[in-house]
Amino acid sequence: MHWPPVSDLTCRSFLAVVRELLETKASATLFTAVQKWAYDNDQGDFGAFVRQMKKVDPKFYPRLVEALSNGQIDSKLWLIETLKAVLPERRYHVSLLGGWFGILGLMMLWLMPERVRRVWSYDIDPDCESVINVLARWRYDDWAIRPITFDMYEVPLAPPYAPDDERNWIFAISENGPDVIVNTSCEHLGRFPEWYARVPEGRVVALQSNNFFACPEHVNCVASIEDFKQMAPMSTVLYEGRLSLQDYDRFMLVGIR
Ligand SMILES: C[S@@+](CC[C@H](N)C(=O)[O-])C[C@H]1O[C@@H](n2cnc3c(N)ncnc32)[C@H](O)[C@@H]1O
Repeated sequence: MHWPPVSDLTCRSFLAVVRELLETKASATLFTAVQKWAYDNDQGDFGAFVRQMKKVDPKFYPRLVEALSNGQIDSKLWLIETLKAVLPERRYHVSLLGGWFGILGLMMLWLMPERVRRVWSYDIDPDCESVINVLARWRYDDWAIRPITFDMYEVPLAPPYAPDDERNWIFAISENGPDVIVNTSCEHLGRFPEWYARVPEGRVVALQSNNFFACPEHVNCVASIEDFKQMAPMSTVLYEGRLSLQDYDRFMLVGIR
């Protein structure tokens, strides 16, 4: 098992250690040793993450390994660095659509706390909510992150929220809805224009897609950033770019809808 020297302990290197724990189906003792190593190096949040990861059902390990792959983590770091560069410094309510296992949400809380008030992570797959319920439990006390099982084609992103008052709290992340809407799963949306029409004009939106056409679940890949811009028109583009990964390119657009 590769432990980075403490001087190189970053979010990326830490998550690589966690990925290795899952890949090797490490013993509880090893999980605890990594947890202690994080605490001993004043990385309390990383320690808490390992403590919680130890409680996740191992049947989810293969999918978590995928969510913690270098390509995934680099793409999330790219998004976070970009948001930090383009967003004025204040704390935003953030909605993640297709938020998967909440890794991006947690990374945002770790790496840009000065710009995040709350994160709501929507995913259509109920497994995602159940994993986040374990993984991010220690951030529930301050309501920093919440997972919700919901189809993003149905998620209201501005008032009026839901006809059913019971569910209003789910959507009313703030009085006007989320300040920042993030969707890094655009390649999964066969009806992308229908989803994009739900994003209120004037709202900050951060989108990622890719040209990994070979994956059967990718029903809406784009070949270039130009194609992506055509698919997701914005009144102001704050950032556009391409990240070359091992097997494909990822594209990102951040702007005002
Ligand atoms: C493989 S994951 C994430 C891939 C993406 N490239 C990323 O890095 O975030 C795609 C997620 O989108 C979710 N998803 C797909 N269609 C959805 C929908 N209509 N509403 C909500 N979540 C959806 C899936 O359940 C899955 O967790």
